[in-house]
Amino acid sequence: MAKGRRRLRISLIGAGSVGTALAVALHRKGHSSGSVVSGRLSSARRCARLVKCRNFSARLSALPSHQDLILIATPEDAVKTTVQELWRLNIPFDRTYVAHTSGVFSDIILRPLKTRGARIFSLHPIQTFPRNLPVEHHVRSLRGISYGFVGERSSLSLAQSLVSDLGGNILRVPKEAKILYHLACVFASNYSVALLGAVEELISTFSGPPGLNKFKRLIYSSIENTLLVGSMKALTGPIARGSAETARLHLLELQKKHKNLIPLYRTLGLQALRLATKQHRLSSKRIRQIKKALKAR
Ligand SMILES: NC(=O)c1ccc[n+]([C@@H]2O[C@H](COP(=O)([O-])OP(=O)(O)OC[C@H]3O[C@@H](n4cnc5c(N)ncnc54)[C@H](OP(=O)(O)O)[C@@H]3O)[C@@H](O)[C@H]2O)c1
Repeated sequence: MAKGRRRLRISLIGAGSVGTALAVALHRKGHSSGSVVSGRLSSARRCARLVKCRNFSARLSALPSHQDLILIATPEDAVKTTVQELWRLNIPFDRTYVAHTSGVFSDIILRPLKTRGARIFSLHPIQTFPRNLPVEHHVRSLRGISYGFVGERSSLSLAQSLVSDLGGNILRVPKEAKILYHLACVFASNYSVALLGAVEELISTFSGPPGLNKFKRLIYSSIENTLLVGSMKALTGPIARGSAETARLHLLELQKKHKNLIPLYRTLGLQALRLATKQHRLSSKRIRQIKKALKAR
């Protein structure tokens, strides 16, 4: 923790991948834990042990009356009921910040607690935390990331100091753009993984399990180049070169053994064509030919 900064007493609700990683990282920066509450007592206990907290429970009523921050890291569908239950508790909210880590909700979902005096915000780590990876992996993965913040000015400085303790930085997201922001996260992470799943599927038909590793440099370079010069300039391949014939051959091959991948191939082909068109790389005739090949049944 930076010199002169206040140590916070933080209570966590939802001791899953995200909640545990944040609680552990903040504990290591000198913040203390007021309580850990989770769906199952075993998850609460496991996280509490890591943050040296004696107060853990499967019930929200176990929250102490005084804490500086209540961090809600439950799945999305439990946030609303958690807020309703919190609202009924005898907590001096006028001295408490309440935040959640959901990517899709803004701070609006926490508004009932604002009526009790709480300062509210949403703070979403722009990172992925698969369940089956160890806590240490998740804690390390927090280094240097950005956090999508939605909230009022009165919460911003607290969020900024937490994020700076976590070694990250804040991305301020306008309330009304929160769902678009989350769409960007889903495309960047979940759908990229889904796309790599398609790559795995294709490789598995001609190579053994470590096959995807042979494509590692190709995958990394594509991402690095895109981050370096943007998607339009980073695009290579048959669509960027205007080869309708290659697209036709690809679709014929998919028709034989991987029919499930045809809609994905067509959709991504059209997206690639949009990028190539914006770059003015292709003649109108070539664009028409590729569109025709991609849409052919
Ligand atoms: N996973 C990611 O990559 C990621 C990235 C950024 C943000 N987020 C956001 O972070 C939040 C948590 O995600 P996660 O991946 O950490 O989920 P997760 O691993 O499923 O953890 C959620 C935790 O919440 C607990 N829980 C469920 N209902 C509860 C309730 N009513 N009261 C108290 N605890 C409850 C669960 O309890 P038990 O296990 O104890 O039963 C679980 O430990 C979500 O809003 C998600 O959108 C996730």
